[in-house]
Amino acid sequence: MGLLKDKEIILAVTGGIAGYKAVELLRMLTEAGAGVQVVMTENACQFVGPITFEALSGRQVGLDLFAPGQEAVMAHIELARQADLLVIVPATANVLAKLAAGLADDLLTTLVLACRSPVILAPAMNVAMWEKPAVQSNVKRVQGLGYRLVGPEQGELACGDEGYGRLASLAAIWEEMEAALSPNDLSKETIIVTAGPTQEAIDPVRFLSNRSSGRMGYALARVARRRGARVILISGPVSLPSPGRVEVVEVNSAAKMREAVLKHWQEASALVMAAAVTDFKPAKSSKVKVKKGEFPASIPVKANPDILKELGEKKGDRILIGFAAETDNVVDNARLKVKEKNLDLIVANDVTRPDSGFGTDTNRVQLINQDLEMTDLPLLTKEEVADSVLDRLVQIREKRAAKLSRP
Ligand code: PMT
Repeated sequence: MGLLKDKEIILAVTGGIAGYKAVELLRMLTEAGAGVQVVMTENACQFVGPITFEALSGRQVGLDLFAPGQEAVMAHIELARQADLLVIVPATANVLAKLAAGLADDLLTTLVLACRSPVILAPAMNVAMWEKPAVQSNVKRVQGLGYRLVGPEQGELACGDEGYGRLASLAAIWEEMEAALSPNDLSKETIIVTAGPTQEAIDPVRFLSNRSSGRMGYALARVARRRGARVILISGPVSLPSPGRVEVVEVNSAAKMREAVLKHWQEASALVMAAAVTDFKPAKSSKVKVKKGEFPASIPVKANPDILKELGEKKGDRILIGFAAETDNVVDNARLKVKEKNLDLIVANDVTRPDSGFGTDTNRVQLINQDLEMTDLPLLTKEEVADSVLDRLVQIREKRAAKLSRP
């Protein structure tokens, strides 16, 4: 279930050409099950008509504090109190200046001040305006006041100029909304997440690998970032979009994955290994494509390094979480790996179920802690599994801190 479901969102639109993108955002929000109250400034109505927003939100658009036919002032204040989130798309230089000064001279700015929920600003404007010291100083000021900023991005602008000023992508705005609705309980962590398969070359065109799509690892990276962690995602070859605001290191083989994990090891406070590291590789790999008739009857293999086991031996105060992809004796086999690899937690994953494991958007897993106690989770989306795993990481950290503070 998405984080925006059943949430009350105020979507505010100010007067810029990017206003039409707010229409698409509204559609995404209603599809996700959010209730959306659109508020527009007078200038915003010059770019997109309120009727479009009314048709898509099923609610009258808030236009003016005192307009006849609009709800009473106090009703709007009530609306601000009920909102889970207020997002301004696009936010003009003018609205940034008003918020920096704490002005409340129209419906939107009044709502912002009356709102106790997080407020997200997605600025969009001409590059020269964006770079103006007055605007930059307002940007710093609104950030200091606790408003969350997303974008602007660099690129070609509607006016034909090139540079910063483009509205952030809707995906980035969405991510910021999810982050605003999530706890910030991982903000002190730097987490290495591994994801996807590794490929072990037989020759330049063929390899040994497995069925991992990377979905589980990418969900972990997204959710950890959303909850405030710095995330270094070390990814085998997958065809998934990179999660925003995550450092992505792309690798191919188990040896390269090991190299990348070791490179970032000193910075990490935790490691979550969801990658399906190919356990063995061809003993020899050919530099040229092996011709059809020259293929041997069998391919000798040798073991790849066990990355997690190696790090379990030198983990210090880092938290180590592994996954166990199993087809039989799932829980027993996973329990063995907790001890063998010196883990704080393992996620046992029965990969024979059609709704779980490789390539699916859902997963059914068991969490097994250091004392080998097992918690059976129901079928969940991979993001929900990620949340449960990261809840455990937070608990382990809290438990350690409590132990340390005991006299
Ligand atoms: O990517 P998806 O399509 O979303 O699928 C998700 C998944 C099934 C790949 C994932 O949920 C999962 O189970 N990942 C672990 C797969 C695996 O390699 O399991 P394992 O039991 O072979 O390994 C145990 C642990 O040791 C894993 O954390 C693994 O990353 C690590 N390992 C394994 C071998 C090796 N040489 N080095 C390792 O570090």
